[in-house]
Amino acid sequence: MADRTVTRVLGIETSCDETAASVVDDGSVIVSSVVSSQIDLHAKYGGVVPELAGRAHVELLTPVLAEALEAAGSDCSGTGIDAVAVTYGPGLIGSLLVGVAEAKALSLAWGIPLVGVNHLEAHLFASLLEQPDLGYPLVVLLVSGGHTLLVEVTEPGRYRLMGGTIDDAAGEAFDKVARYLGLGYPGGPAIDRIADQGDPAAFAFPRSYPGDGYDFSFSGLKTSVVNAVRKHPDADTADVAASFRRAVVDVLVARARKAAADVGATALCLAGGVAANALLRSTVEEACAADGIGAFLPSRALCTDNAAMVAAAGWWRLQHGDVSPLTLGADPNLRLAATA
Ligand code: KG4
Ligand code: ZN
Repeated sequence: MADRTVTRVLGIETSCDETAASVVDDGSVIVSSVVSSQIDLHAKYGGVVPELAGRAHVELLTPVLAEALEAAGSDCSGTGIDAVAVTYGPGLIGSLLVGVAEAKALSLAWGIPLVGVNHLEAHLFASLLEQPDLGYPLVVLLVSGGHTLLVEVTEPGRYRLMGGTIDDAAGEAFDKVARYLGLGYPGGPAIDRIADQGDPAAFAFPRSYPGDGYDFSFSGLKTSVVNAVRKHPDADTADVAASFRRAVVDVLVARARKAAADVGATALCLAGGVAANALLRSTVEEACAADGIGAFLPSRALCTDNAAMVAAAGWWRLQHGDVSPLTLGADPNLRLAATA
């Protein structure tokens, strides 16, 4: 059982194709974290099929929860759990509803508070789990399958949106280009692997910098890849992948670096699935070293969707008196609200 001076939160995440549950103490100590990925289920369709994802969450959530609770020394009566936090948006409606319904049931059955968590905010908390002593202000580059955002974080839970993509998310661009190149799903890891064997200078793909702020655009780059492959059908796929990855990373890092400099950030932080990208990680590290600021790169397990970050964000919300009613619904289009 948890030390009673500790607040132990159960986190639940079902917004897309990962079914996850985690127990976290005081928003910072991961006691257990279980993630069941549905990648194999969706791979043959080349992307996430929403209806299948929802059904899979229904099947997987109970065993995933049981494993996370058992690993934390708890049980199906919720012994030692003080609150339940759940992602309620953004994401796939049918998937979100599975987690939200389960969290509401547990809150009611165990008599503990429920807290709804914004999935994007949860990604911002992932780095705090590994680096609780982060200095502020921070700039977080949140790059996932559905989002590409630059966020200034002035303290935990307080942030300002600086920029975002005007078309495709970075992960979406990786997934679409990988699909076009026949590299399968999910595309990001596949491109990352094959790009290591290619020449990043083989193709001069465009770097797009829309506006003079901090926005991104990847749809033109995607079209350039298609045009280049049509023009050079015998091109080495590794060269195309390497040149594409270099172009994506160049714009992500250039804009993130500018954002960090403009707000006087002490560090640049990565979040979201694309933060697992090997070239992005090494380029951010080099850029931050050159700029004399910190670089915080969460472990790959915390970059991709997980429930520990949901529990951490939920704990912070609870500390600020934010308890959700049992009427909590799912919001597939939930946005990151500015609080700074
Ligand atoms: O954060 P996440 O797990 O789920 C969303 O909330 O979207 O991110 C998944 C995205 C996918 O688009 C996937 O292709 C991408 O992250 N991704 C990567 C890498 N690993 C995952 N993109 C580039 N390089 C990687 N190594
Ligand atoms: Zn995510």
